[in-house]
Order: sequence, then structure tokens, then C-alpha cells
Amino acid sequence: MTSYVLLGLAALQGANAWGSLGHATVAYVAQNYVTAQTAAWAKGVLNDTSTSYLANIASWADSYRATAAGAWSAPLHFIDAEDNPPTTCDVDFARDCGAAGCSVSAMANYTQRAGDARLSADHVAEAVRFLVHFVGDITQPLHDEALALGGNQIAVKFNGFNDNLHSDWDTFMPEMLVGGSSLADARSWAASLITEIDSGTFKSAKASWIAGDNTGDVVTTATRWATDANAFVCSVVMPNGAAALTAAKDLFPTYYDSVIGTIELQIAKGGFRLANWLNMIFQNEIAKRDSLVQRDLRVVDDSELDGHMFLPAPRPLSKAELARLAVGYECNHKH
Ligand SMILES: *[C@@H]1O[C@H](CO)[C@@H](O)[C@H](O)[C@H]1NC(C)=O
Ligand SMILES: *[C@@H]1O[C@H](CO)[C@@H](O)[C@H](O)[C@H]1NC(C)=O
Ligand SMILES: [Zn+2]
Repeated sequence: MTSYVLLGLAALQGANAWGSLGHATVAYVAQNYVTAQTAAWAKGVLNDTSTSYLANIASWADSYRATAAGAWSAPLHFIDAEDNPPTTCDVDFARDCGAAGCSVSAMANYTQRAGDARLSADHVAEAVRFLVHFVGDITQPLHDEALALGGNQIAVKFNGFNDNLHSDWDTFMPEMLVGGSSLADARSWAASLITEIDSGTFKSAKASWIAGDNTGDVVTTATRWATDANAFVCSVVMPNGAAALTAAKDLFPTYYDSVIGTIELQIAKGGFRLANWLNMIFQNEIAKRDSLVQRDLRVVDDSELDGHMFLPAPRPLSKAELARLAVGYECNHKH
């Protein structure tokens, strides 16, 4: 009886992405790297001025997909790479993003919507909640893999429990590392990852995590993120194939030891990317719009236009750009 219940829980969690611990940790890492202006914008959008404003909504998309109203969004949590691990790993957006959409197309939709002044506050908040979640999902290698439903159908034993490979990656291996799944656990895991990013193991790699990221070409950017994570399916997740994992007596400790560093890397990477992504949306969409409003009102505050850590300071807008924005701004108010 107990084992059936546990199996059921494992299957349920396996359908989600990183469990709540992983998503909240991605969010706390991101909170550390957003600019003050981006943070103020996100807090306003999310109507949450607490110190967990991103972490609080990081798993909303998983709760939403579990409702009847949100079932349509389930395919947006992954991209099913039709590759052939462990021999070949690759992601091809045209081949792998289904008609119902995928994580990569969802990033494009919600990046656009997060900066769209014509949308209601509720829709902008929904877009930000989805973005915070999907940037995390994409860094989980098995969310970028079609094989055995992203590993959901690969039966394994982990630390004495019968479960599946996907849920071990999402939830049980991160929780074994951290020792819990509360927001406090996520905050402390994030603190240690932030130290690694700032001055430790990830210091030299972090620039490569966001190199070329561009909110103006989301499909290219998010496909690169998916390709990066998917490569780990061949090199780390199942280097000897899925059958070897099912045949293993227990994935703890040998397999766990061989993958936990990649899990930490991917969570850190997700948080750092998310911060940069929100900073870019703020700077390229929100700040431009706001600065125009301020110019209109003749209360220009140049500090609002300061550059942030990842992008050069914005150049002054040309007359043509101002005219285009002004038209857009007026239109927005007519709708
Ligand atoms: C914002 O949150 C506060 C409580 O924290 C609530 O009273 C208020 O109605 C919320 N505003 C909106 C627009 O949802
Ligand atoms: C974009 O997001 C909106 C709101 O969630 C959704 O209704 C719409 O179907 C999405 N469009 C695409 C092309 O995914
Ligand atoms: Zn998800």
C-alpha cells in the first residue's frame, strides 16, 4: 500500500519539472542578480514586495498545469528532443517543438507578453510567472529529451525507493543534497550557489551561460539553452544508456555522486540566466516605455536609464524611435 502511494507521488512529481526546491532555488539565485530596477518592476507585477517575490511563484506553473483550466499548458514545460541518447544528443526546434507548443516557444510567447503594455496586469503577471518557471525547466536535462517521456518511464531505484529517473532528477536527488524542500532550504542552497558563481567553481563559466542571450531572438536563445542541457543526457544522465540505470541495484550513492555536480551547475545556471533575462526585458521594454512616459511628463530621471551589469547603458533614442514609441504608447491607451 505504502509503496503504491509513494510510486503515485513519484509519478506525479515526475510530471513536474525541477521540484519546488529546484525552482525556488533558481528564483532565489535570480533575485540576487537582478538590478534594483528589475526587482522593483517584478515586485510590482507580482504584487509581492517580500524577499521571496520570485521564489513564491516559481512553481505556480506546475500547480496550474495540474488544474483543468491549466491542462493546455502541460506541453510548455519541456521540449521533446527526438535524438538518440547516449549515442547522439541534439535539439532541433522545428523537429522537436510540437504543435501544442514547448518550453522554447513558451519562452518566446511569455517574453513578448511580459513586456507588452497592451496586456492587463493579470496577463503580465502570468507571463512573468511562466518565465520564472520555464527558464528553470529548460536547464533540467530530462526536460529536453523525448526518450521514455523524458525518463519518466525509466524505472530505477534510488536510496531504497522504486521511482523513475525523471523524478530523481527533478526532486529526489536535489532534496537528498539539500536535506529538505522548504523555501528556507532553497534560500540556503541558493546562497551557496551564489558564492560559487561569484567567487568559486562557476566564476569563470558564468559569462558563457548568458553569452549571446537575446530577448529579440528568443527561439534561438532558448533552443541554445535546451541544447546545452540536452547534451548532459548523453554525457551525464545516461552515458551507458537507460537500461544500465534500470539494472543498477540503487542509484545511490554511485550514480548520485556522478550527477549531483551537474544538478548544481544547472540550477545555478538557470538562476543566473533568469536574472539576465528579466534584466533584459526590463531594460529593452519596460525602461524604454517608462522613460518615454517620463519624458512626456517632463520628469526625466536619468538614474532610471542606468545600464546594468550585463548590457551597455542604453543610447539615447533617435527621433524616429521616439516617434515610433509615442505612437505605440498612444495606441496602448486607446485599446
Ligand atoms: C496585492 O496584494 C495585497 C495583499 O498582499 C492585496 O490586498 C491586494 O488586493 C493585491 N492587489 C492586487 C491588484 O491583486
Ligand atoms: C501565449 O500565451 C497566452 C496566454 O497564456 C496563450 O493564451 C496563447 O495561446 C499563447 N500563444 C502561443 C502562440 O503560445
Ligand atoms: Zn515545469
